[in-house]
Amino acid sequence: MCGIVGYVGDDNACEIIIEGLKRLEYRGYDSSGVALFEEGRIKIYKSKGRIANLEAKIANENFNSTIGIGHTRWATHGAPSDVNAHPHGNMDESIAVVHNGIIENYVELKDSLVKDHGIIFQSETDTEVIAHLISVCYKDNLLDAVYKAVEQMRGAYAIGVISSNEPDRIIAVRKDAPLIVGLGEGCNFIASDIPAILKHVRKIYLIENNETVVLTKNDVKIYNSERKEVKHEVFNVTWDADAAEKDGYEHFMLKEIHEQPKGIFDTLNRRLSSDGTISLDGISLTKEDLQNINKVYIVACGTAYHAGLVGKYAIEKLAKVPVEVDIASEFRYRDPFVDDKTLFIAISQSGETLDTLAALREAKRKGARILSVVNVLGSSVARESDDVFYTWAGPEIAVASTKAYTTQLVCMYLIGLYMGITTGKLEQAYYDQIIKELKAIPEKLKTVLKHEDKIKELAQQHYKMEQVFFIGRGPDAGVCYEGSLKLKEISYINSFAIAAGELKHGTIALIEQDTLVVALATQDRLFEKMLSNIQEVKARGAYVIGLAKCGNTEMEKQANKVIYIPDCMDEVTPLLSVVPLQMFAYYVAKLRGCDIDKPKNLAKSVTVE
Ligand code: G6P
Repeated sequence: MCGIVGYVGDDNACEIIIEGLKRLEYRGYDSSGVALFEEGRIKIYKSKGRIANLEAKIANENFNSTIGIGHTRWATHGAPSDVNAHPHGNMDESIAVVHNGIIENYVELKDSLVKDHGIIFQSETDTEVIAHLISVCYKDNLLDAVYKAVEQMRGAYAIGVISSNEPDRIIAVRKDAPLIVGLGEGCNFIASDIPAILKHVRKIYLIENNETVVLTKNDVKIYNSERKEVKHEVFNVTWDADAAEKDGYEHFMLKEIHEQPKGIFDTLNRRLSSDGTISLDGISLTKEDLQNINKVYIVACGTAYHAGLVGKYAIEKLAKVPVEVDIASEFRYRDPFVDDKTLFIAISQSGETLDTLAALREAKRKGARILSVVNVLGSSVARESDDVFYTWAGPEIAVASTKAYTTQLVCMYLIGLYMGITTGKLEQAYYDQIIKELKAIPEKLKTVLKHEDKIKELAQQHYKMEQVFFIGRGPDAGVCYEGSLKLKEISYINSFAIAAGELKHGTIALIEQDTLVVALATQDRLFEKMLSNIQEVKARGAYVIGLAKCGNTEMEKQANKVIYIPDCMDEVTPLLSVVPLQMFAYYVAKLRGCDIDKPKNLAKSVTVE
């Protein structure tokens, strides 16, 4: 979490940094700040709240600075406030630091800085420790001091440092938090992510763990942990900054919901040939590798984890291999049964989620084959995997994930199909049927999106509700978790998802007169079971919105309202059924006046534990 930007060149550093920070607000937005070298000293400006507050604060300043660093924060240590906002300085403010990550031993470091050096701390943050630590290590060379400070720090961090003693340079370090360098003409940049600087540069260095970078306006040098200079290949960004614009939609989330037919089409198109064979271009899993696999682990966080829940159904059914799905933060500390016969699938939109990355490393250490499903090219998860199955969702900006989820589902089907057909466990006819169904999804999804007004009406009827339950069976249960998460994260309504058969073991106690229950019943063979579950909640007063395939009119007799999705095979319904739930969450949140693209307390990229 948190976004950092740094600039050194000839232009107005403040404007460039603030504009970059705005592009990184998805990483956190509870406070922001800049440090600039101005009139012979470092000046730090910071403000609680959105970047607009910072802009208002500095509106009357006339900056000439051509070097600086900036930060947009997602609070970990210390509440969001002006004083806890970054950058943080040392006592005489000759050094300023921005930081993304957590310094795990900051209490120990802080104690020694106070006791041994008489340092007086201003904030409650772990980051302030870094500024003082560099300061006490400083003799006459900033790079020396940064190396000495970093040696003492434990945790995850990407940091940017400037000093009034060496005002021509930015020093940056990466360990387990994303950091890139942008290469300009007579100017250079650091940032947490590419969109922050894409307006200015297309040539990028992807900085690796434990590397330190020294940037001046005409030069970039990268050093490893032994302080030996290393060379990196230039990564050329081919996509456009416009892809990250709202395009006339009121919110990124709505735009991204509508981009799903394209995202699904593109993800399929990259892998499917016209005859329906799946090409694994760039992925080195051979028939022998796949035959060797006796277990699949899917590990992820948040929405990506929910994609894994549906992935389990898809891969078990198509590849006929046992699949376990786990939350990354649980997997990594659980000593899981993983060996060289395990295929470990990490799913991550950003490719930077710290828990997912740590789980991946744990699985790798135990010998698993690592295949990741990632949306961001060149991200950490992608780089550390044996193979990458990219989703082609395009940049996802809204904190609540939508198009990344559906493209992740597509990858789950394609992986299952490929494994099944290659190992000979899946019949060709069944394979062909599923491929045909997948190819039809983008058009069917357009039909779902055309019924937006119906969903708006439902939202209008229910937006004042206090709580809602999502129930379903089989893959529908997986989709329920995602529908429920969407609603709670952007509308702040207490929503709960549960496998419908499990309701009667406790949760049904919460159902009372007019409680809203959203019941997914898209699975033909489980349809009657779902009707019974609907009866059970209705008998206790629930108001039921049913979701079924077109033609299942029986649902109208049972539910108070019905959302229909186009007819399709049971296997692929999640690709369609999740979309009305995303739209429902969107319109409910809108009617409640919520900040849809930047919900409170959340961030898009979670690079802390
Ligand atoms: C955050 C985001 C979620 C996302 C999760 C995992 O919580 O708000 O939308 O699903 O992180 O992120 P990843 O980038 O690994 O998919």
